[in-house]
Amino acid sequence: MGSLQLFHSFSVSVSPATNLRRPLNNGRVSACLNVDVEAPNPLKMKSGGSKEVIEEEGKVLVGTYARAPVVLSRGKGCKLYDPEGREFLDCAAGIAVNALGHGDPDWVRAVTEQANVLTHVSNAYYSIPQVELAKRLVANSFADRVFFSNSGTEANEAAIKFSRKFQRFTHPDDKQPATGFISFTNSFHGRTLGALALTSKEHYRSPFEPVMPGVTFLEYGNKQTAKDLIQQGKIAAVFVEPIQGEGGIYSAKKEFLQALRKACDDAGCLLVFDEVQCGLGRTGYLWAHEVYGVYPDIMTLAKPLAGGLPIGATLVTERVASAVAHGDHGSTFAGSPLVCSAAIAVLDKIANPSFLSSVSKKGHYFKELLIKKLGGNAHVKEVRGLGLIIGIELDVSASPLVDACRNSGLIVLTAGKGNVVRLVPPLIISEKELEHAADVLHECLPALDSN
Ligand SMILES: Cc1ncc(COP(=O)(O)O)c(C=O)c1O
Repeated sequence: MGSLQLFHSFSVSVSPATNLRRPLNNGRVSACLNVDVEAPNPLKMKSGGSKEVIEEEGKVLVGTYARAPVVLSRGKGCKLYDPEGREFLDCAAGIAVNALGHGDPDWVRAVTEQANVLTHVSNAYYSIPQVELAKRLVANSFADRVFFSNSGTEANEAAIKFSRKFQRFTHPDDKQPATGFISFTNSFHGRTLGALALTSKEHYRSPFEPVMPGVTFLEYGNKQTAKDLIQQGKIAAVFVEPIQGEGGIYSAKKEFLQALRKACDDAGCLLVFDEVQCGLGRTGYLWAHEVYGVYPDIMTLAKPLAGGLPIGATLVTERVASAVAHGDHGSTFAGSPLVCSAAIAVLDKIANPSFLSSVSKKGHYFKELLIKKLGGNAHVKEVRGLGLIIGIELDVSASPLVDACRNSGLIVLTAGKGNVVRLVPPLIISEKELEHAADVLHECLPALDSN
């Protein structure tokens, strides 16, 4: 296949003083005033074949990702395609991001119309889509106010800062207001140094220590240890995923979340639900915590909210918001008109009760199907989850099965200690597609025997 880039001509002004370490595009860009030069046109960028892209990636990207050897260049609905036209059924949705699948017409319309009108403005000004999205989130949740950011980890960083500020604000005379945090085994809250400090896997944290101090990890589900620590009065907030995603698809018990709620109320500590992965319709409920009837002081959202564009949201009660003042936090890109318009299109669809009940119905059907088709295999320990967040726990590494599925045209993820197959398809997936996914998983099970 040909070159990675398709070049087109445009006029560029470059200061004669510009000191280019190396000419761009192998010398095609001339560092002089107003000349016609050839530069990559991102709209027409024609990829090479998969092999070429993978080779090029290895030369120019920082090696943070252990990527599967697949280039995804196009998507429609729940299908993804590589540059050679190979089709994949998407049961990963990014990682629980593309809730409406790929190229949803209402989402595309919202994005293109807004891009034609206004893409970005500084948060030093008001913008209509941001206010509209916040109104919808508030109208559909426990929350009174919203802070926007650009990712899940940032939504949690905001929650960390707001929790600390809340403790200072509510204890103005206290020389040492509560600054500690509780997080749980198998938790995942993000990669920045605050959210990372709340993430249980030591392997993620230890190369970057010291991370934010003051975090205690407790056993997920253990009410008593949490109660004992919270009542000591040194904890600003407890961070918990009502359903843990990265950690292996573990659902909290109602009594556990109820106990956390009560202990937090008694001690004046905040309860933060991280619904970055399990929120926004994935369970068949708009918010995962609705399943339990337990409500947080702060909820963090991200992944599916803007249907694939970067967004984070920290939803808070009025009590929490009242502790936060001008200048306490902010972000250049957050809550842009473009991203918020996309999110409005997503939220309007997902919040529809008939959409949510279809997720419940499909999730139930899929789980039963998986239990029926895979349950008899000696390596399958459990099929668990709610709605369209499902984990298949194995007694061996899930990687050979995930690889075999991909080779058979099905994209699924791992979770936990690598021994869980994670299924988080687009919420629009059809029963027929779910049947196909279950069939492929079943056919690929022998791959586990070579473990
Ligand atoms: C529960 C949870 N919180 C936070 C994050 C971090 O989100 P992001 O990768 O957008 O920073 C993730 C990502 O997987 C997540 O699953």
